[in-house]
Amino acid sequence: MSETAATPAYTPGYGAAVLDSHRLRTAQNSAAHLLEHLRPGQRLLDVGSGAGTITADLARIVGPAQVTALEVSEEAAAITRAELDRQGLAEVEVLVGDAQALDLEADTVDVVHAHQVLQHLPDPVRALAEFRRVARPGGIVAVRDSDYEGFRWWPEAAGIAQWRELYLRAARANGGTPDAGRRLLAWARAAGFAEVTASSSTWTYATEASRAAWAATCGGRLTAGPLAAQLEREGWADAAAREEIAADYRRWAADPDAWFALLHGEIIARA
Ligand SMILES: C[S@@+](CC[C@H](N)C(=O)[O-])C[C@H]1O[C@@H](n2cnc3c(N)ncnc32)[C@H](O)[C@@H]1O
Repeated sequence: MSETAATPAYTPGYGAAVLDSHRLRTAQNSAAHLLEHLRPGQRLLDVGSGAGTITADLARIVGPAQVTALEVSEEAAAITRAELDRQGLAEVEVLVGDAQALDLEADTVDVVHAHQVLQHLPDPVRALAEFRRVARPGGIVAVRDSDYEGFRWWPEAAGIAQWRELYLRAARANGGTPDAGRRLLAWARAAGFAEVTASSSTWTYATEASRAAWAATCGGRLTAGPLAAQLEREGWADAAAREEIAADYRRWAADPDAWFALLHGEIIARA
C-alpha cells in the first residue's frame, strides 16, 4: 500500500449496539441517490463497507463478481465478509485498505460508493481524490454522510441534546467531521471534481419500533465500546451520567408523539 494518512480511532466501534443498527441499512434507505445510475456489469467499489448490508444490495444489482468491498482493518473486513457469505454473495471481493490511500489501479472502477465513511476520516478530500483517481473517466463517485449537527427531534429531551454534544466532541477529538453531510459538495470540488450533483435525505424515526431501535443504538454506545470508553477516559461523562442520558433517550422513545429526523448530505460526482 502507498503512503497512508493517519487513521484515527473509528468513534462508534463494532459492538452489537452499532452493528445491529447498521444492519438495518439497505441500498433503498441509504443509497437511493445512486440507484438510478447502476447497471448490471458495472465494476463497483464499496469503501468502508462495514456491516455489509448495503454492499450486498449493490452486489445484487451490478453482479457479485463485479464488486469489491474495502475495510480499514481485518476485524472490519471480517464483518463485511460474514454478512456477504450469509447472503450467498461469496463472489464479492473484500479487501483491507485505507480509503485515503487506495491500493487500486487508476481508471478501473465504474462506481465508487461510500456511505457514512468520510465523516470518520482525517482527510476526506484526499479520500475523494483517491475515489476520483480509481474511477474510470465518466465513472461515478457516490457518497452519503450524516450531519450530526442536523439532528431534529420532538418533544424536547435533554438526554438527546447531551448525547449529541458528547458524540460531536468525541468524533472531532478523533479527527472526524460529524457534520460531514453539509460539506460533501465543497470537499468534492476541492478534490478536483468538476461535475457534482448534491442532494440530501433523512432517516425519520416516528414509529414505536424505529424510535426504540434508535434509542437503543444511541444508549448502547454509551454503555460499552469505544465511545463509552472515550467519554469515561476523558472525564466527559461518567457511568451514572451516561446511564441517565440513555434512560432519557428511552423515555423519549416511549412517547407516542416522539419524532426524530437525521439529515444526510449526498453527492454524485463524475470522474
Ligand atoms: C459508519 S460505518 C458505515 C458502514 C457501511 N458503509 C454502512 O453504511 O453500513 C463506517 C465504516 O468506515 C470504515 N472506515 C473507517 N475508516 C476507514 C478508512 N480509513 N478506510 C476505509 N474504511 C474506513 C469503518 O471501519 C466502518 O466500517
